[in-house]
Amino acid sequence: MLKRIKIKDLLKSETFDYEVNVKGWVRTKRGSKSICFIELNDGSILNNIQLIINIADFEEDLLRRISTGACISANGILVQSGGKNQGVEIQVNTIEIYGESDSESYPLQKKGHTLEFLREIAHLRPRTNTFGAIFRLRHAMSYAIHTYFHNNGFYYIHTPIITGSDAEGAGAMFKVTTLDLNAIPRKEDGKINYEEDFFGKETNLTVSGQLEAELGALALSLAYTFGPTFRAENSNTARHLAEFWMIEPEMAFYDIVDNMDLAEDFLKYLVNYALENCYNDLEFLNNLYDKELIERLKSVSANKFERLTYTEAINILEQSNQNFEFPVKWGVDLQSEHERYLVETHFNRPVILTDYPKDIKAFYMKRNEDDKTVRAMDVLFPKIGEIIGGSQREENYNKLIERINELGIHEKDVWWYLETRKYGTAPHSGFGLGFERLMLFITGMSNIRDVIPFPRTPKNAEF
Ligand code: 4AD
Ligand code: MG
Repeated sequence: MLKRIKIKDLLKSETFDYEVNVKGWVRTKRGSKSICFIELNDGSILNNIQLIINIADFEEDLLRRISTGACISANGILVQSGGKNQGVEIQVNTIEIYGESDSESYPLQKKGHTLEFLREIAHLRPRTNTFGAIFRLRHAMSYAIHTYFHNNGFYYIHTPIITGSDAEGAGAMFKVTTLDLNAIPRKEDGKINYEEDFFGKETNLTVSGQLEAELGALALSLAYTFGPTFRAENSNTARHLAEFWMIEPEMAFYDIVDNMDLAEDFLKYLVNYALENCYNDLEFLNNLYDKELIERLKSVSANKFERLTYTEAINILEQSNQNFEFPVKWGVDLQSEHERYLVETHFNRPVILTDYPKDIKAFYMKRNEDDKTVRAMDVLFPKIGEIIGGSQREENYNKLIERINELGIHEKDVWWYLETRKYGTAPHSGFGLGFERLMLFITGMSNIRDVIPFPRTPKNAEF
């Protein structure tokens, strides 16, 4: 038995004229009376390998059963090709069919499907060039994220997915329960009796691993979490998912400036990693979807991010004479149109905004002296808008209690978080990078549903 060789490795081969085994899915089959050509892809790389089949050497029925989408295993001689694009091809001796693919009904029989159509066949779209490239890049970025943190002395902490707390105070959470929805147990006052539920209390899917990552940082100094997070907001946009992945580093002894420095260095590392290790896939996406992709990646890597306060940004926006759909004034939350004006029109580079009004940010952010703003930082990117949200954390026990009370958060729900400010508190900071927002930027795709294998959005959880 010959050992299977991945197409990625075959295409790199510098030696020829020996027998190999290759396995993969048929992209196209064409030919003449005497010779048949099959383009085979196994997902290890964007490129196909060409199989050359001398028709006279095979049973007619076997070749007839091979069509686009079929999975085959072939043995043959690896030869140097005469064709202009390909270094190597295979002169096939034997073929085994693993799985036929009915050419009448196979949804990817033809090329050129719309991204909308491909979303409806999320179970098959990984077999297209586009999604092969995107998912290889997604893997590469995950690997680069862990590598970056590992190389910089961070420890990966696995924060829970089911939680009893609401980190962002957004109130848009998915409930987790095993109660019988047709016979909900109630207390005397009519409220649901969660004591009878699985955990004996109300629980939800997490919106962020930050609060637990902070516990890690306040012991290990540098910690990060990277996992799925869930938001039940009904926002049907090209930048929101109900289930998305988030990278959240948390650093003891870092102030907001250290936090910004880390965020900038981290993002540039990831962009450079993609440029250096995934150029083939990037070039494909650049040529097919976004002619400025590679230039934009290089530009982000080369330029220093602009840093200014929210208040300065509001002044710029007010003086911009732009007709924004959402009017700007001090105190409003910035919309994507405002963020993109700053990044794409005014500064023409990524922007980090700091010191937002406390009323539009979460309870845990460190209060500034002015009592109106907090040490928040959002990183805004071209084409994306907000890609990172973070802050220096409020480490002062009394100030944190005060804020929690102001916002009506129950101390008993976050007692464990508060205790870290009671016992050996420390200045610390952190941020959250939305992984799919990063993937939008890296791939140049314009809809977030196209950078995650199985998107979860309102009314959509088919696969
Ligand atoms: O700004 P957010 O809500 O911040 C937090 O959750 C903090 N706890 C992070 C931290 O400091 N550790 O979310 C962080 C990032 C956003 O900047 C955005 O990139 C992404 O997560 N994000 C989403 N991505 C896809 N779909 C959604 N619905 C998202 N909501 C936030
Ligand atoms: Mg945010």
